Amino acid sequence: MSVTALIVAAGKGERLGGDIPKQYLPIGGKPALRWAVEALAGHPSIDAVRVVVGAGQQDLASAALHGMNVGDPIEGGPERSDSVLNGLEAISEGAVLVHDAARPFCPPEVVDRLIAALDKADGAVPVLAVADTLAQGAAFLDSPVDRKRLLRVQTPQAFHVEDLIYAYEEAGRSAATDESTVMLAAGLKVATVEGDPMLEKLTTPGDWARAEAILSSRLV
Ligand code: C5P
Repeated sequence: MSVTALIVAAGKGERLGGDIPKQYLPIGGKPALRWAVEALAGHPSIDAVRVVVGAGQQDLASAALHGMNVGDPIEGGPERSDSVLNGLEAISEGAVLVHDAARPFCPPEVVDRLIAALDKADGAVPVLAVADTLAQGAAFLDSPVDRKRLLRVQTPQAFHVEDLIYAYEEAGRSAATDESTVMLAAGLKVATVEGDPMLEKLTTPGDWARAEAILSSRLV
C-alpha cells in the first residue's frame, strides 16, 4: 500500500494576524511548512509528499519548498476541508496522512504508530490526554467537565484514501477542523494512538518561542 503525506498549507492564518500566513513564518530560519514537509518526507514508510497551497501563496510556497521533491502544489480552497478534498482528488488511492503545515515537528514514532493502527481501523489519529481542569462557562464558571474521556486530537491523521473520500461524500464538506470529525460523522471507525507534545499546532505568537526552544534543545 502506498502512503502519501498530504500537507495542508492553504490557510490564511488570520487568527495570528500579520501579512505572512503562519505556515510560512520561520523557525530557526526555516519556514514552518518546510519543517513539516521534511519531517514526513524523511520517513521510510512515506512514499510521497504533496502540499496544498492557497491561491496567491504560490510564491511563498515555492520559496519555502525550494529543492524538495513534492510534485506540483495542489490549489487549496476556502475551508480546510476544501483544501483536503482537492488533495485527495490528486492522490486518489492508497493511504494518506493528512497533516497541518502549522505542526512543524512530527516525530517518526507517531507515523509508525499511525500506520500500524490503520491495519485494524478505517483511520488513526494521534491524541493527548487533557491535563488542565475543564469547565463550561464564560465570565463565571457554569459547570465542571469530566476530563477523563476527553482527548486532544492532533495531526497527522491516517486514512485509506477511498474511505476518507467516502466520508466526505456522506458527511459533506463542512467546517470540520479535522478529518476524524468527518470520519465519525460518516460512521467510520477511527483508532487513537499516542500523540506527542512536539506536534502542538502553531497558533499564537508564544508558540514560536516554544518551537524555537524545541529546536535549541536539539530534540528535532
Ligand atoms: O487554521 P488552522 O490552524 O485550523 O489550520 C490548520 C491547517 O489547515 C493549517 O496548516 C492551514 O494552512 C490549513 N488550511 C488549509 N486551507 C484552508 C484553511 C486551513 O489548507 N482553507
